[in-house]
Amino acid sequence: MAKSLTIQDLNVFYGEFHAVQNVSLKIRPKSVTAFIGPSGCGKSTVLRTLNRMHEVTPGAYTTGSVKLDDLDLYDKNVDPVGVRTTVGMVFQRANPFPTMSIRDNVVAGLKLGGVRDKAKLDEVAEASLRGANLWNEVKDRLDKPGGGLSGGQQQRLCIARAIAVSPQVLLMDEPCSALDPISTLAIEDLIAELKSEYTIVIVTHNMQQAARVSDQTAFFNLKATGKPGELIETGPTAKLFANPELKETEDYISGRFG
Ligand SMILES: Nc1ncnc2c1ncn2[C@@H]1O[C@H](COP(=O)(O)OP(=O)(O)O)[C@@H](O)[C@H]1O
Ligand SMILES: [Mg+2]
Repeated sequence: MAKSLTIQDLNVFYGEFHAVQNVSLKIRPKSVTAFIGPSGCGKSTVLRTLNRMHEVTPGAYTTGSVKLDDLDLYDKNVDPVGVRTTVGMVFQRANPFPTMSIRDNVVAGLKLGGVRDKAKLDEVAEASLRGANLWNEVKDRLDKPGGGLSGGQQQRLCIARAIAVSPQVLLMDEPCSALDPISTLAIEDLIAELKSEYTIVIVTHNMQQAARVSDQTAFFNLKATGKPGELIETGPTAKLFANPELKETEDYISGRFG
């Protein structure tokens, strides 16, 4: 069920600014792919093109292609709203609707989609919260506001919200960067569980995290300021960290720049 993503010759522009150039990458189903690289090299930009989220930025556009299995996500007949259901996203800062109840936060997308059946909504809320390893912590307070949860719980609430609409792919942009180490571990454990059902792409600035959670790593870099970011090297995570092909990769992962 989970799907592959194929990125081919992808370039991303913010108006005149060429942010990322010539990225080609195959993302296997039911695996975790980590995007690493210095700040500004285009990790978030590439991630957002995988569900057309960059299109919410006025003037942003792409060339090249992104396919979900055989479906060209940029085909003129493809609805970007549908793409964002199939390819869900979790952001750096947990962004639940703070005054909305925990339960309603989880099923907000379904309600927007027109589901009204209370039994069905409750069933999906429970399954999604269980899927996000949050059920036991919130089952007695489902009617309390989402904003009352801890940061780590809010991030798992956002993951529950993403999986409630039955996506195939989950994109996560530095999902742990605002979390303490214990909450970070909870999210990493969750990612390890979710990959049996979903294709996952995670941006992380933390190389240890990439090494812990991912099967494949893609290293992006900026050749010079003002130049577009590029995909430098990709490979199985264990190999990329232990024995990279390129000196540029080795310099980055060993903490030497330039
Ligand atoms: N909404 C935007 N409008 C204009 N430029 C942007 C926007 N978002 C990102 N950029 C630029 O695109 C480049 C890549 O940014 P980003 O993808 O956020 O990098 P990363 O996630 O690797 O830190 C940077 O030069 C950044 O300033
Ligand atoms: Mg980023």
